[in-house]
Amino acid sequence: MIQDEFVFASHFEGEYETQWQAPSNIALVKYWGKHGEQLPRNPSLSFTLTKCVTTTSVNFSPKQGREMNFDFLFDKIKQPYFRPKIEQFLDRITPYFPVLAEHHLSISSHNSFPHSSGIASSASAMAALALCIVDFEKQHHPNWSEEALLQKSSFLARLGSGSAARSIAGPMMVWGESTAFLGSSDLYAIVPENEWHPIFQNFQDTVLIVDKGQKKVSSTLGHGIMNGHPFAAQRFEQANRNIAALKNALNTGDLDQFIDITEGEAMSLHALMMTSQPRFMLMQPQTVAIIQKIWDFRAESQLPLCFTLDAGANVHLLYPKQDCISVMDFIKNELCSFCQNGEYIEDQVGNGPQKM
Ligand code: PMV
Repeated sequence: MIQDEFVFASHFEGEYETQWQAPSNIALVKYWGKHGEQLPRNPSLSFTLTKCVTTTSVNFSPKQGREMNFDFLFDKIKQPYFRPKIEQFLDRITPYFPVLAEHHLSISSHNSFPHSSGIASSASAMAALALCIVDFEKQHHPNWSEEALLQKSSFLARLGSGSAARSIAGPMMVWGESTAFLGSSDLYAIVPENEWHPIFQNFQDTVLIVDKGQKKVSSTLGHGIMNGHPFAAQRFEQANRNIAALKNALNTGDLDQFIDITEGEAMSLHALMMTSQPRFMLMQPQTVAIIQKIWDFRAESQLPLCFTLDAGANVHLLYPKQDCISVMDFIKNELCSFCQNGEYIEDQVGNGPQKM
């Protein structure tokens, strides 16, 4: 599929309103580094989550002229802070759906998780908005296949936030061309066709909230520093190798291999930050203490739990559902004290967005 095939011009008269709920996702193989119009430097693979969701409704009403025009409410209140990001998103996607410019958009959003939880909300937020827009576009193209809808939604979401491309379906998505995944593309994420080992069904992700603050370093800056990073070439090769190996672990249920790749990817991401120019560190002492505790507990208990990190200090603790009771005891007894106000979010792998 080439970029131009995503442009659709057609005419649908009248007003339209829709509402979608989209989940966040957690990358196991990380996307870090981009080029062109939000194209990834390497392929990434993520689990789609269930509870960390954004619900967005959009009312599209016809208007005169082609000036971009929208209003935005977050939790029913005007939030100027989010406007520039939405404006940039709408500007970027309008060439792929020119009819959008002939409408006023009233957008209203709500997150299931606190905005200030340190959980990246751009993936779920941009995915939910992209799904609303594609739903409107579908009114012009009633014969679109499910596959076309998924591709277009992911393509548009990507233009809002790269990782949002992977919040369009579940239980996992691959974004970025990889020889390991047939049909994978830099333009949109796909649901890999392979059979997955049942151990990954309902896999748990407990997000340990170390820092509720806003991200210290924007991901735009983070991706930017990969241009000219001394380890860039090795990193992109590593991600390609890791995604192929992770596919094997997901197929066979080899949890040792899964743990090795997942934790290695999190460490690589943060090592890249620490060795970039400018260099920075997003882990906090509590992040390191939690990681150490996880390693000790895994060695003692022989339970297959592991961690991953986003571009922040919070720790995502991943483990099979069958080990829930022991791991929750461990969290309450040993990890909670490192979390801000003792807070954590119990999430798990899920099936993707829903039309409300
Ligand atoms: O989607 P962005 O531009 O916020 O970048 C996300 C980057 C990471 O969360 C660190 C990794 C990933 O693949 O989600």
